[in-house]
Amino acid sequence: MTPGFDIRTYNSHAWDVAVELGSEWTLPVDAVTIAKARRGDWSIVLTPTKPIPAEWFPPLDNAAILCLASGGGQQGPILAAAGEAVGASVVVFDNSPRQLERDREVARREKLSLKTVEGDMADLSRFADASFDLIVHPCSNLFVPDVYPVWREAARVLKPGGVLLAGFINPILYLFDQKKADAGVLEVRHRLPYSDLTSISAEERREYMAAQEALEFGHTLTDQIAGQIEAGLAITGFYEDGWPGMALHEYTEMFVATRAMKI
Ligand SMILES: C[S@@+](CC[C@H](N)C(=O)[O-])C[C@H]1O[C@@H](n2cnc3c(N)ncnc32)[C@H](O)[C@@H]1O
Repeated sequence: MTPGFDIRTYNSHAWDVAVELGSEWTLPVDAVTIAKARRGDWSIVLTPTKPIPAEWFPPLDNAAILCLASGGGQQGPILAAAGEAVGASVVVFDNSPRQLERDREVARREKLSLKTVEGDMADLSRFADASFDLIVHPCSNLFVPDVYPVWREAARVLKPGGVLLAGFINPILYLFDQKKADAGVLEVRHRLPYSDLTSISAEERREYMAAQEALEFGHTLTDQIAGQIEAGLAITGFYEDGWPGMALHEYTEMFVATRAMKI
């Protein structure tokens, strides 16, 4: 990589571009979804398809909620609507200004109270220790090279007994040659952990960057699960999810969701 290359700045721009291109992770929820959430009929996801089980959520009464790396006008506005009548407060934190604009768009349209904060998920220093009752962290740590600071910071800003709901990618997804997998051929190519900065050729990386695609990292299950435990979180829930349309989907689910509680 070019010396001084800043992955956070690059990925911030790449996600702004994804908003322009209308990626499915950037499409804000509609008015019907918000109206239903206000009536108590709501669900959100951490992974592509399965809703988070209702029993994973703590009571929303007066809950301080952080939607971590969760811009796009989805989880944040739904939680703001669901918790409106019971005094919940929602902060959406993300690295992409355009993704955060999506959340503000929904908040303006639906007259929801919601705060947006731009920053890096690995650095939550603008929040005091023990600030939140609930953190919702959908699949997004594939965009940072090191997940340990993310777990440490999440644990730090949670109140004791607070809950972290996290989605992440099973690293088996990164074993395969990406281009061939996109064409339906699964050919094992990479060692784990995977990194778009070091696991592929400069030429392949140039192609991703020319298309302004976000660069990714395939973290190990040790990083994802032991990382949470080492940060002082007890895992209390687990499920897997798939993504129909991917070649690997025929063989296994490759997304993971965990519920963890700050001890
Ligand atoms: C796949 S989207 C997830 C958000 C979406 N609401 C969902 O339903 O899953 C990944 C998000 O992670 C954000 N992101 C990437 N790198 C980040 C970083 N270092 N810090 C904070 N957010 C980051 C992106 O801007 C993007 O909004």
